[in-house]
Amino acid sequence: MLASRIHNLKESPVRELLKQIGTPGMISFAGGLPSADCFPELDLAGVKPEKLQYGASEGDLELRNKVADLLTERGVSTDPDRVLILSGSQQGIDLVAKLLIESGTKVAVETPTYLAALQVFDLFGANYAPICPSSIEVSGARLVYTNPTFQNPTGHCYSQQQRHELASACDNSGAVLFEDDPYRDLVYDQCSRTPICSYLRHSEWIYQSSFSKSIAPGLRLGYLTASETLFPHLVRLKQAADLHSCRISQAMITQLLSMENHSYREIASYYKDRRDTFDELLSQMFEDIAVWQIPTGGLFFWLQLKPHLSIDTRTILGKSINNGVAFMPGEYFYPKGIKPVSSLRLNFSNACPNQAAIGLSRLADIIRYEGTKPE
Ligand SMILES: Cc1ncc(COP(=O)(O)O)c(C=O)c1O
Repeated sequence: MLASRIHNLKESPVRELLKQIGTPGMISFAGGLPSADCFPELDLAGVKPEKLQYGASEGDLELRNKVADLLTERGVSTDPDRVLILSGSQQGIDLVAKLLIESGTKVAVETPTYLAALQVFDLFGANYAPICPSSIEVSGARLVYTNPTFQNPTGHCYSQQQRHELASACDNSGAVLFEDDPYRDLVYDQCSRTPICSYLRHSEWIYQSSFSKSIAPGLRLGYLTASETLFPHLVRLKQAADLHSCRISQAMITQLLSMENHSYREIASYYKDRRDTFDELLSQMFEDIAVWQIPTGGLFFWLQLKPHLSIDTRTILGKSINNGVAFMPGEYFYPKGIKPVSSLRLNFSNACPNQAAIGLSRLADIIRYEGTKPE
């Protein structure tokens, strides 16, 4: 009765975990949740009734104009007619997978990579090859999926040189570059953020970003642009998927982007403080059990456990949740066929510093106990 590909579709551990986060008293380092303190005040009364009518599949022109300006500032060559407003950038992943992946298609990904991209790519039957940061090997891959700026889950940001290397690798191999860039506005330290697609000479490409992390995820809005050959197909796929994205959300984002004092600087400074406090807490509680780097942007710390307590962190998640602490086991972020490293992804933006201290202390105790107890 069911299409055979449905057996490739696994439930998302993140979304399952998100259900637990609402439990009273739960301290969560699990989701990529922006802090509710950073949500904007939106004026719903200012939205015109005409926005209740059906709209264009590409998105409303006022918003596409604004997005085209943002993209041009970043160095991505496009115009409003080549911007597609998405119902969250997760939708872009779905549309691109429908366009380019069939059973057995080789997709090059970072290892680890964004879990919900793997969920979609798996559904369409992808096989995987790793993109190695030092020697970028993409031969044989039809599609290269990258999240180069403050990556989910590792927080890694590609250097200028790594960006050039990946662009040349795509140009040389003919692979399509799919650049996913939702965290770029949450920047705390000087680093390179130029989109890789702006360095391509002839390869086909898709570039996408989102308003979820920098404005509000509940509005469910993202956007993409793509090379001329690919763009019309993506518009048709969007039409077939949901006709168009919510026009009230589009009007709200347009309103916010039009405000004269609109800037992400305040949000970034709020998160930078949270990041620094989190790092201090980690140094007090995790130094003997894990290694990590301070992320220059985004929402996550990525911790690798030291070899003497190499445990699969998926096995301690239940115990941690029973102790009131949710986190994301890093092992979930590895594509099939790649051996996972013993690791944790910790979101630092959601829990307040006091709660973070309590949660990290409990989590470190669990790891120490489970990692050193006799078999
Ligand atoms: C790398 C990456 N891409 C895409 C998304 C999807 O975001 P949204 O659909 O809210 O725009 C996320 C969300 O966490 C993400 O981390």
